[in-house]
Formats: sequence, C-alpha cells, structure tokens
Amino acid sequence: MSKRRRKLAEPKVLITQKDLDARVSELAQQISADYADKGELVLIGVLKGAFIFLADLSRKLTIPRHIEFIAVSSYEHGNVPSGAVRLVMDVRASIEGRHVLIVEDIVDTGHTLHYLTDMLQSRGPASIRNCVLLHKEHMTEVDIDIDYLGFTIGDEWVVGYGLDYAEKDRTLPYIGAIKPGD
Ligand code: PRP
Repeated sequence: MSKRRRKLAEPKVLITQKDLDARVSELAQQISADYADKGELVLIGVLKGAFIFLADLSRKLTIPRHIEFIAVSSYEHGNVPSGAVRLVMDVRASIEGRHVLIVEDIVDTGHTLHYLTDMLQSRGPASIRNCVLLHKEHMTEVDIDIDYLGFTIGDEWVVGYGLDYAEKDRTLPYIGAIKPGD
C-alpha cells in the first residue's frame, strides 16, 4: 500500500454550528406556539439524514411530543434517481386523529416529501405539516409546500448535521459544501 494518501478537501462551511442552533431554536419556538393546546405532536424523522435535526428540534420544543422514525429509499435506473420512492421502514405508532410533523433534513427534488405526505395523509391524521432544515429550491421538481423551513440553499452538495456524502461527514457539527469527488 502506498504511503502517500490522497488529501481530502475539507468541506467549505456553509452554515455554522451557531447559526444552525439559532435557527433550530426559532423553528422550535414557532412550532411550540402553533401547536400549543393541540395535545401531543407526533414528530416523524426521515432517516437517516434527519436524525440530528430531529434530536435538536425535539429537545427545544415546549409542547408534548412523540418521536417516530420512517425510512425511504429512491428507486434508481442505472444510478440515476427515477423519482419513485419506496418505504423501507414504517413508523410504529398509529397517526390516525393525531397532529403530525414530518421532520426532513433536506428537500432536493421534493419526491421524498411528496411521497411521504401523501402516504401519511391517507392514514387520517388530524393534521400533517413538515419541518425542513434545508431546501434546494432550484432543484425541486414537484409542487410542495414547506411549512417550517430552516434555510434555502443553492445546488451545492451538502454534508454534516446528519447529511452525508457516501456515508461520510454525517456528524460534522456544521453544514458544509463539498464537490463530489473531493
Ligand atoms: C435525502 C434526504 C431526503 C431526500 C431528499 O435522503 O434525507 O430524505 O434525500 O431528496 P429528494 O427531495 O430529492 O427526494 P438520502 O436518500 O440521501 O438518504 P439518507 O437520509 O439516508 O442519507
């Protein structure tokens, strides 16, 4: 094995840890106000990317909350996402008659959130909204309403705070931008 190692470029800081913390606090405050006196809010984190956002957001809420996770996967045609989404892991609890908030780390094409909203809506929740940390606005292909949004970003590949590139960099405390292949 060669002693020379390829030096990996560090992600460029796009959103600092401090700015993430401040924005997540604002979102939690807004959500807590909107759902005050509505009973328990069911938070559904979309694995894997939303695990850190959900952890931080849920701990900043001041209302009763119930934590669930769901996992989906995109169908690909020769490494190219087809836009079709399939359920890999379902929530454990019934959401019928309950207030639901889907917690997503990022909306890119929008197919994942669109699929999840339709699928969960069919189960008869009292209401369903979403809270999204990052929106790649110019990449979104489907008509989707984001109810609570952290930040709008450009077309860069982002890592950290739960997001990965080939399973790397999920635990960076900030959102960084990389060039795939770095
Ligand atoms: C990411 C992200 C969203 C989805 C958004 O998940 O967590 O769930 O893509 O993309 P879309 O708007 O184009 O549908 P990913 O497939 O990278 O899986 P991961 O969260 O497990 O890393």
